[in-house]
Amino acid sequence: MIKRNKVFIAVSLDGFIADKNGGIDWLTETPNPEQSDLGYANFSANIDAIVMGRNTFETVCGFDMDWPYTIPVFVLSNSLTKVPVEYAGKAFVVNGPLTEVIAKIHTLGHGQLYMDGGGTVQGFLKEDLIDDLILTQIPVVLGEGIPLFKAMSKRLDFELVKTETFIGELVQSHYQRKAVPIN
Ligand SMILES: NC(=O)c1ccc[n+]([C@@H]2O[C@H](COP(=O)([O-])OP(=O)(O)OC[C@H]3O[C@@H](n4cnc5c(N)ncnc54)[C@H](OP(=O)(O)O)[C@@H]3O)[C@@H](O)[C@H]2O)c1
Repeated sequence: MIKRNKVFIAVSLDGFIADKNGGIDWLTETPNPEQSDLGYANFSANIDAIVMGRNTFETVCGFDMDWPYTIPVFVLSNSLTKVPVEYAGKAFVVNGPLTEVIAKIHTLGHGQLYMDGGGTVQGFLKEDLIDDLILTQIPVVLGEGIPLFKAMSKRLDFELVKTETFIGELVQSHYQRKAVPIN
């Protein structure tokens, strides 16, 4: 089983994933007449499950559309014990040490994981558990909002895999964690 923890997320030029009210309208304001999926289908072709923070889960639940995922979604939360009944069988609450959360998801047969949500990504980065960071930069400086990154005590080195430009405006950079030298 291939095991990889991946982030695929859109950020403002100043590093926010949502505005100060949690709003994400600015993500989709760039004209996209041909409805490019901004690389999402290619990315999700190699994803077995999603690990999502409770805030992002609630954002997705609030979208005016059907549940958008066909793979299991594991919702990180210390405040929920289970997801609302309409998401039963599709989304599952998980918590505990992140290495144990990942190990449990692996035992269920899901190796390639998509980590989503600011606090969630920060938690996995803090434990050096992210292998791929795919960041799509939206050309806006929000000034304030929900940050993708927060202070960490440890430095993590990544290397560029590729860069793509979508709809002439959005730069998507794929970085992977550099191998950590064994001393
Ligand atoms: N720009 C983009 O592409 C993008 C992508 C995704 C989300 N967003 C936006 O980002 C915002 C959400 O981000 P966010 O930073 O607020 O948070 P988030 O990661 O979605 O959710 C944070 C919550 O997840 C739970 N959680 C996170 N790590 C945990 C852990 N290790 N153990 C247990 N529970 C854990 C906690 O829930 P409890 O409080 O229940 O314990 C925490 O309060 C939303 O506005 C969303 O729309 C934007």
